[in-house]
Amino acid sequence: MTEVTSEKFSLSAAAVAELEELAKRYPTRAALLLPALWKVMDQEHWVSLEAMEWVAEFLDVPAARVYGVVGFYHMYLDKPPGKHIIEVCQTTACAIMGAEGILDTLHETLGVGLEEPTADGRFMIRRVECLGACEHAPVCQVDHAFRFDMTPEKVKSEVEKLSQEKE
Ligand code: FES
Repeated sequence: MTEVTSEKFSLSAAAVAELEELAKRYPTRAALLLPALWKVMDQEHWVSLEAMEWVAEFLDVPAARVYGVVGFYHMYLDKPPGKHIIEVCQTTACAIMGAEGILDTLHETLGVGLEEPTADGRFMIRRVECLGACEHAPVCQVDHAFRFDMTPEKVKSEVEKLSQEKE
């Protein structure tokens, strides 16, 4: 077990205990990098610089390696997300079936680009690779729930529904 000295971030004791348990099944602590980043995502919904440094110290790996992994994998967010994340599949079947039109509608409706939270912090739009439901292209995920056979009208109505939710 590694004692982490960083005071700017810490994972919950429960998450640390789970990682320590997992460490017994991995050949090296460095191999825990992806699960450790998932624990950070579960707790914070994104991975801050402070969290990356904490993970580097916890696993005794260079911080540059952690930054590299967070930057490489699309599923780790290095900026705070909006409350609702709308992901639009951009891979071939969805692209052919109109993913760009859905993205255009989202940009127009929400007034933000990709990966930028809206000013009220409610939404963020992301492009993602194949979601594995190509027969229902174009496919989106709203807060990780699938939405099949999407159209610009359907995605607009999703946004309207979520906008009406109370904070
Ligand atoms: S190409 Fe979009 S779900 Fe497979």
